[in-house]
Amino acid sequence: MHIAGSPTVSDADSALVDIPDGALAITADGLIDFCGPFDELPAQPGDVVVDHGGAFLLPGFVDAHVHFPQTYELDAYGGGQLLEWLNNCIFPAESRLADPVFARTIARDFTRARIAAGTTAAMVFGSAFPVAQDELFEATQRAGLRIVSGRGIQTQGPDSAAPLMTSEADAIALTTAEIDRWHAADTGDPDTARLLTAIVPRFTLSVTTQTLAALGELYAQVRDRGVYIHTHLNENNRPGTGEVDLVKQLFDVECYLDTYDGKFLPGSAVGGESLLGRRTILAHCVHCTDAELARMAETGTSIAHCPTSQLFLGSGTMPWNRTVDAGVTIALGSDCGGGDEWLISKVAGDAYKVHISEAGEASVAMHPAQMLFSGTLAGARALDAESRFGNFDVGKEADFLVIDPQRWPPLERMLRNGVRDDDPQRARDQTLFALLMGMREPAIAEVYVGGDKVDFGAV
Ligand code: GUN
Ligand code: ZN
Repeated sequence: MHIAGSPTVSDADSALVDIPDGALAITADGLIDFCGPFDELPAQPGDVVVDHGGAFLLPGFVDAHVHFPQTYELDAYGGGQLLEWLNNCIFPAESRLADPVFARTIARDFTRARIAAGTTAAMVFGSAFPVAQDELFEATQRAGLRIVSGRGIQTQGPDSAAPLMTSEADAIALTTAEIDRWHAADTGDPDTARLLTAIVPRFTLSVTTQTLAALGELYAQVRDRGVYIHTHLNENNRPGTGEVDLVKQLFDVECYLDTYDGKFLPGSAVGGESLLGRRTILAHCVHCTDAELARMAETGTSIAHCPTSQLFLGSGTMPWNRTVDAGVTIALGSDCGGGDEWLISKVAGDAYKVHISEAGEASVAMHPAQMLFSGTLAGARALDAESRFGNFDVGKEADFLVIDPQRWPPLERMLRNGVRDDDPQRARDQTLFALLMGMREPAIAEVYVGGDKVDFGAV
């Protein structure tokens, strides 16, 4: 099953392709040559045929927002919402990555967690420490996964964040060095690379206006090389003391997005280059104004929607219909460790649950094709890589998962006994819904990126 073509999320159900007894043919270069019924497969003598029996093939999952330094912090007890959790748990935990031995271990465990969850491509919020980022890129390269990442930038913050903070000059120097070392380091060409870099200010409260201005200047210099921007926006709106109100008070802006759009400190001379664009992903966007959503749509900026994390941190719910109607690309993000699930299909399940629970007319039952779209093709689009991967269209790089229900008996029983087959379309939709809601990591038998089988042992 996959979402064919290049639909919007609203059209995902009519783009859903489901081929019982299907086949994928892959060229020696790892590109999709054929996707269709097995008995129409144009096989040549000598072709290697792999029979996956009763398993499902889905496109690899794309996680548009996941924190590498929080690998061991899933379900950490933070004793409060976002800012308390950061102070009590996250800043101290992330400080441990300064230790090279710990950095190597956590990079391996993070990469293995990605393989187990079938996350073939990800926008990875990085560690402050170059030694840990080097380990991350190296482990990712050994595994053969796709990654966009950058070191988390902090130039101001509470005492608990002190080990993660640098001077403004060092923030720029370290980020520039990371881009020069790792951007397309595997192929030398951003259009074919699996390793790509981003500029990653943690969030507005972690940087000064001068840092934001300097990052804008840096971005203007490296944008043409295909470098990304990644950060958080409008996550916690606790009145007075939450993230959104603090940004507005401290940065004197009308809306939070302005701080990333070169418009900080209106009325003063301090302003700068915008960080928005087709290679920018902003996580959460729970509490956006209409003007913020319109500006994101206008600039091609995407949202990483992280419902699992929003439940865990009490951040509220991104309004689904209003955000979709604004025309912004919405991809799913696990936000581990704010989210406590690596598996993007589980995040899609949480999206279903929170959006059906929206109040009154805003309540929406996402179609299973929209769930699959949000966790695959929309992620590729958010990464500005839709022409390369995200579905099984001929010519794309073959990123796919083999999902075998026999490996997870609750799923096998649900598919065998719970799906009605009186109406083929309904049976198809129920099958996909049950698959997404019911699968767990053990059901993911094999993971492929660009036609290459990803090997746990190589990490
Ligand atoms: N805002 C700033 N830092 C973080 C983080 O680590 N996780 C989440 N969910 N939000 C943030
Ligand atoms: Zn996050």
